[in-house]
Amino acid sequence: MEIRAINTPLLEWTGDCLAIGLFEDAVELTGDLATLDEKFAGILKELITEEEFKGKAGSSIVSRLGGNSPVRKVILVGLGKKEAWKLDTLRRSTAVVARAGKKQKSKTLGISLPIWNDDLAKTAQAMTEGVQLALYQDNRFKSEPEDKGPQVEQVDLLGLDGQEFAINRANQICSGVILARQLVAAPPNSVTPITMAETAEAIATEHGLQLEILEREDCEKLGMGAFLGVAQASDLPPKFIHLTYKPEGTPKRKLAIIGKGLTFDSGGLNIKGAGSGIETMKVDMGGAAATLGAAKAIGQLQPDVEVHFISAVTENMISGHAMRPGDILTASNGKTIEVNNTDAEGRLTLADALVYTEKLGVDAIVDLATLTGACVVALGDDIAGLFSPDDALSAQLEKASETSGEKIWRMPMEEKYFEGMKSGIADMKNTGPRSGGSITASLFLKQFVKETPWAHLDIAGTVWADKENGYNSPGATGFGVRTLVDWVLSDA
Ligand code: BES
Ligand code: MN
Ligand code: ZN
Repeated sequence: MEIRAINTPLLEWTGDCLAIGLFEDAVELTGDLATLDEKFAGILKELITEEEFKGKAGSSIVSRLGGNSPVRKVILVGLGKKEAWKLDTLRRSTAVVARAGKKQKSKTLGISLPIWNDDLAKTAQAMTEGVQLALYQDNRFKSEPEDKGPQVEQVDLLGLDGQEFAINRANQICSGVILARQLVAAPPNSVTPITMAETAEAIATEHGLQLEILEREDCEKLGMGAFLGVAQASDLPPKFIHLTYKPEGTPKRKLAIIGKGLTFDSGGLNIKGAGSGIETMKVDMGGAAATLGAAKAIGQLQPDVEVHFISAVTENMISGHAMRPGDILTASNGKTIEVNNTDAEGRLTLADALVYTEKLGVDAIVDLATLTGACVVALGDDIAGLFSPDDALSAQLEKASETSGEKIWRMPMEEKYFEGMKSGIADMKNTGPRSGGSITASLFLKQFVKETPWAHLDIAGTVWADKENGYNSPGATGFGVRTLVDWVLSDA
């Protein structure tokens, strides 16, 4: 599929399907749209009246145009209230158009939507993301592709000529989002610590990043007892992945992104029971997937920023070698942890990843993790939890999230709650009481960061979508990639 920015006027565009956006309660046709309506023999006005089209965000109607019209079909898409017009509403409206265009079996699609905030580049980027992410389809595990209909081959963004750079940038970012979706969607017998390391290697080779993989012995030498405690029941070797993107010349900043990388979380000896969602625990490497997706995008975008991409990848399994509830582990900073629940494994792997990362001397660290069910209870499936002691870094991430449309909400890191993590025998337990579970998990992570500005994103809810939602189809969302990339690219 090719996305082009063209200068063909709305009235002269020809092709299978032309899409036009209308704001809510402002569906009367003026200017070019009035002329277009005349050209289409009044069919737009008729459609709006007949279908009681109000321009609500996410709504759309389609109609065939008569006889030998140079445009086969027209799509009207609702943009919602003009006062509430956000970059993400534009992205979602474009996704609605893309899906409708595909359903109408259009090979060529012309889209004319208003420019957001007079910003041509952001408009072109968001529209490209909306199209790419909505039309992405995963047929890897079907013996026959389910959808054999014609694919959209060409998308023309009207009125955005000159925005090739922004479209290209969006395509590069989407390649990272799609990699993350593919990694999360693939089953846990296909995405393993070994294949995650291979994926990192492919990114390094293709986009010129440096790669270091620490094997079990390397991690032992570094004293990563918390990570290795989780890994010890798996028949597969753990892989500690460290990819580095270095710009030419002196970097403006040095950043690190860490992702939780449990390719499967059985719970360990505190095994997840029926109804716990154990069969969905392939998503538990969603943080690592977003980290690799961001690496793929950054490798192509080549910003003036050094970025480290890190994940301690393993499975949480059961066997005679498994860590026992009650075991005490020693992390690489010397802190001791009483494992009172083997299902709180993500924080154990992240503990050693955080200690390792801080030694790199970066300016800021962000980790992404499908860390707690408690965060899903608090914020649902559309919003990730942001936990950070650092106001400036939090503000940077909130700004990036506003641009990406990936919602995050800052949660309190109430120090007092760490009392629930106190252990009678070790420095801390890995699990506190049920209440405030996403907060105590974050406070646990905080024990492994000394002074570098750090933020944690709990993406347990947002990593997967049960229903179609804007540019997300049911399944893996690739959540985090676009926010992280925007954060890295921003000058802050
Ligand atoms: N991987 C899970 C969290 C999770 C839940 C991810 C739902 C995706 C969707 C994590 O390792 C876990 O098991 N957390 C426990 C922690 C508890 C034992 C303190 C939880 O949330 O129940
Ligand atoms: Mn778990
Ligand atoms: Zn987990």
